[in-house]
Amino acid sequence: MMLKTRFTEMFGVEHPIAQGGMQWVGTAELVSAVANAGALGFLTALTQPTPEALAKEIARTREMTDKPFGVNLTILPSINPPPYAEYRRAIIESGVGVVETAGYKPQEHIDDLKAHGVKIIHKCTAVRHALSAERMGVDAISIDGFECAGHPGEDDVPGLVLIPAAADRLTVPILASGGFGDGRGLAAALALGADGINMGTRFCATVEAPIHEAFKQAMVANDERATDIIFRTYRNSARVARNAISQEVLRLESEGRPFEEVAHLVKGARGREGLISGDLDHGVWTAGTVQGLIHDVPTVKELVERIVADAEAVIRQRLSRMSVAA
Ligand SMILES: Cc1cc2nc3c(=O)[nH]c(=O)nc-3n(C[C@H](O)[C@H](O)[C@H](O)COP(=O)(O)O)c2cc1C
Repeated sequence: MMLKTRFTEMFGVEHPIAQGGMQWVGTAELVSAVANAGALGFLTALTQPTPEALAKEIARTREMTDKPFGVNLTILPSINPPPYAEYRRAIIESGVGVVETAGYKPQEHIDDLKAHGVKIIHKCTAVRHALSAERMGVDAISIDGFECAGHPGEDDVPGLVLIPAAADRLTVPILASGGFGDGRGLAAALALGADGINMGTRFCATVEAPIHEAFKQAMVANDERATDIIFRTYRNSARVARNAISQEVLRLESEGRPFEEVAHLVKGARGREGLISGDLDHGVWTAGTVQGLIHDVPTVKELVERIVADAEAVIRQRLSRMSVAA
């Protein structure tokens, strides 16, 4: 038995599971493993220092899989923005078939990608933003509930309400994102009206994720309370794993300090150094509440197969047994 949904049909993948863009983690090693497992993985464009490096990473991924994969383009408000148009050009010229957009004002990217026949999954955190992206012409929406790692937005609506609220309003296929990590979650997402799930944190605790083993074991040890929402006072909330740095950021925010006074603590380079060295308190690192459901570090293939098999078992055994003739 397989789970066939509008998502698997539209993107030509075996399983209704995606691996969302992840800064410093979404490289060829992980993305090719996800593709080979029959799910849809996304390289993270801005993890590569230049558009040329991204083109090389796309080529390197192709050497490791012949299955479909995509690229995430995260559009951040920034004083010195990266050369987004050039990253986009690298994606188009490399012949990648699908892009996950996330962040601010995606219109120009959507227009150009569409004009070149690239499918787009726009990831957002609110129904109103999803509707706006649908009007812009995206092919699918990934909607991140408050549980998620990274940027949950400022509305604090968890997936249990956000996903069906989105399903009520959207016509394009929907990926439920934030807090998913096992087959029960996948079955629940489908029941709520989604066409599949998108996961970040759970894929970090796999053999192929290119981060230090200490982080993977920390995710196994942590429970669902082990996150902090930082940057709320700057209206740019980010859910990260709770550690000495996230606690210090919260302390400074509670004193009303401006971003300039915490910037040195949360620099991307610092986070990356930690992920490589294995020092859990070196910088902030992104992880969600789903840590409470992570109990092992399997290969990506084992994880994807387990999630699909468990979801099928929930649907076929647990739920169907509950449905009795009146
Ligand atoms: C380590 C890490 C880095 C992430 N970086 C990005 C990013 O650069 N761009 C983006 O759109 N989402 C990013 N995300 C969010 C994920 O793509 C995904 O939406 C989120 O993790 C889903 O929630 P979950 O972690 O509960 O599965 C990141 C998540 C993690 C865990």
